[in-house]
Amino acid sequence: MSNLSEAELIHMFKGIPFTTRSSLELLKSLDTFDAREDDVLLVSYPKSGTHWLAGVITKLYDAQVTLTSPIEFGDVSNLEELNKVSSQRIIPTHLNYNMLPPNFKNKKCKMIYISRNPKDTAVSMYHYYRDNPNLPTIDTWTAFFDLFLKGDVVCGSWFDHFLSWEEHKNDKNILFLFYEDMKKDLPKTVKEISLFLGLHVSDNDIQDICKKSSFSEMKSDTEKENSDSSHTVCSLTSNRRLIFRKGAVGDWKNHFTPKQNQRFEEIFNEKMKLSKM
Ligand code: A3P
Repeated sequence: MSNLSEAELIHMFKGIPFTTRSSLELLKSLDTFDAREDDVLLVSYPKSGTHWLAGVITKLYDAQVTLTSPIEFGDVSNLEELNKVSSQRIIPTHLNYNMLPPNFKNKKCKMIYISRNPKDTAVSMYHYYRDNPNLPTIDTWTAFFDLFLKGDVVCGSWFDHFLSWEEHKNDKNILFLFYEDMKKDLPKTVKEISLFLGLHVSDNDIQDICKKSSFSEMKSDTEKENSDSSHTVCSLTSNRRLIFRKGAVGDWKNHFTPKQNQRFEEIFNEKMKLSKM
């Protein structure tokens, strides 16, 4: 757990809690960030399977591509670093749609949004809060459950994040994916991603990519890395080893009480009234 106070770890920007690892100056200058037409954005609410998706996408390319740090991570010098990348950029972000630098929208860059059952996302985030020194201390699951439902966690409300992106689900440059679909049939999702990105990938290569992107492979790869465990696609941690916890669907059943489940369902139904998905 962290010795830093809550105020030193979290600050608000446009009503959304960010960790202080995203500096205010950087967040303010995102609006003028210069996108490139071939940028690919990898978008998610935290704990939705971002690293998994990043692992898959980077394996799809024959040409050299660079998986950058998240666009909202660090201070303004990070944006300068992104500008210096000469190869095609795969840029992760946890920003909601409204905060995305307008240039990505104007240039119709390809964006892939991955979503996950918010109950499992909440549980995954709870463990992440417990293990991650960059996030405030959380004493109990019950306390975290309340914060999550209020949107009083990093990156704000899951519902608002999802809805802000869902509004654009029919945009031709946006692909919506679900963690649960990847668990059910990874080759199918990988094929879908490759078509969306306009890449020709053989069925054999897809099988190979799926094998290398399994939870156990990715976890053990990360454990073997001594040097680069700091390379994450999440702006909330500097330790890749914190990412690979369980990799399962339905872990919420081991955490939610029946009463919590009922409350979650009520709020979900209310907030998602307008959702078509
Ligand atoms: P759990 O905490 O439920 O295990 P993110 O990358 O957005 O931070 O998401 C992390 C979640 O994705 C974690 O969930 C992690 O275990 C899971 N994950 C990472 N790689 C995975 C893989 N190859 N297969 C399945 N789940 C994976």
